[in-house]
Amino acid sequence: MRQLVARMPRNVGCVIDLHCHVLPGIDDGPATVDESLALVRAAYQAGVRTIVATPHVSWRYRNDDATIETAFRVLTDRLATEDLDIEVLRGAEIAATCIAEIEPGELAKLTLGQSRSLLLEPPFVTVITGFDDIAFSLMREGYEVVIAHPERCPGFHRDTDMLRRLVTAGARTSITAGALSGRFGKTVRRLALEMFDEQLAHSVASDAHDLLGRPPGIASEIEQAGLGGMLGWLTEEVPAAILRGEAMPPRPAGRLAPDKPPGLFARLHRR
Ligand SMILES: [Fe+2]
Repeated sequence: MRQLVARMPRNVGCVIDLHCHVLPGIDDGPATVDESLALVRAAYQAGVRTIVATPHVSWRYRNDDATIETAFRVLTDRLATEDLDIEVLRGAEIAATCIAEIEPGELAKLTLGQSRSLLLEPPFVTVITGFDDIAFSLMREGYEVVIAHPERCPGFHRDTDMLRRLVTAGARTSITAGALSGRFGKTVRRLALEMFDEQLAHSVASDAHDLLGRPPGIASEIEQAGLGGMLGWLTEEVPAAILRGEAMPPRPAGRLAPDKPPGLFARLHRR
């Protein structure tokens, strides 16, 4: 146990991971329940105490309530035999391009932890005309929309105003932790940090798929990005409010913008 505590970043309490591909055998996450268990253990060691399992619901991975429930039971039955103080809830990451094909009754079963929030994945294309209409339509139906990793969507790089309009209308955003550490490149990292500058970022999740390529860390990436002062808000308060269907908790007072690496000019003149 001493070793586990030593590996946890400071200030970590009960991190809630709203976006994690932890269910076995139904998408590009773990292939087996043993691999799922290893991912859960790694998440625990990184300070996570609640995981929302969010398998893809997409054209490539045609999951539905039934396939998710089956995989969820496989994992939770296994976890019941393990000595791990961690909660796994059901959810889904729903591709926006699939929304129209999902029956209303089915969609209601794909929310995050039985809340009214849907984790909506924007398409990875440069033109995302109509994504806002899909999100607005869901909100009119009474859903809360959480936009999955907008910083990784080329369309939001091209049309950041759409992101601003969505947030103004009540959509929430879930930044992927790896984006803050540059795992997806400088451009993605830049938009993620700009979202913090503009108060467009509401939460940070792992979007973990495995132990190496897409690992389950969240808190350490937040701290490394200079956002440690927002850690509890990003990983506990806001995710808890999303799961409970409550209003967003107030942003922490004080300095919000992260430390940005100095530009080339500044680095040259520092020498
Ligand atoms: Fe994902």
